[in-house]
Amino acid sequence: ELGARRRLLEERVRPFPDFPCPGVLFRDITPLLKDPIAFRTVVDLLEAHLKARYPQIDFIAGLDSRGFLFGPVLAQRLGIGCVLIRKKGKLPGPTESVSYALEYGQAELEIQSDAVEPGEKVVLIDDLLATGGTMCAACELMKKLKAEVLECAVVIELKSLKGAEKLKPFPVYSLLQYD
Ligand code: PRP
Ligand code: ADE
Repeated sequence: ELGARRRLLEERVRPFPDFPCPGVLFRDITPLLKDPIAFRTVVDLLEAHLKARYPQIDFIAGLDSRGFLFGPVLAQRLGIGCVLIRKKGKLPGPTESVSYALEYGQAELEIQSDAVEPGEKVVLIDDLLATGGTMCAACELMKKLKAEVLECAVVIELKSLKGAEKLKPFPVYSLLQYD
């Protein structure tokens, strides 16, 4: 049954070779978002996993920008708040920032310094884990705020890029895995 639901999700992810640059096989989630059953299934599966695994979560942190498609919906399901980890220059007030490399580029992430308090338990959400550069930067931001990262959760994990290894000791959870 879980297998059938995962297969539906797999059918709603489109591969595009050489986007946004040569050598990258882009995993496009727009069909998944367009199908309400598939979109709901993603949120159902992440909600069930987090409820079973973590008795107390203070916040969901969504990663700019595709993490924003899932983070806030999931936070609502769990009845908790959502905080935003954004690309540089988007957040007002005092911020912490970390620069990082990703599968096809270089960028900088920020969080507002008062987004979470020391000791608060946070689950990070993004659509996809590739090299882990983005998620690793998000973990560093949480470390700067002295928050506790319970888990890094993604819809898609590109296993061959070894993002989960880069993220150690933080646990990674993914619904779909590709080589
Ligand atoms: C994509 C994706 C992840 C990240 C994964 O975001 O949504 O955030 O790359 O790659 P990594 O594991 O190698 O860091 P992108 O930076 O393309 O921005 P977007 O979400 O604004 O499209
Ligand atoms: N972000 C980083 N690598 C990606 C890929 N291969 N497909 C979709 N989003 C990505």
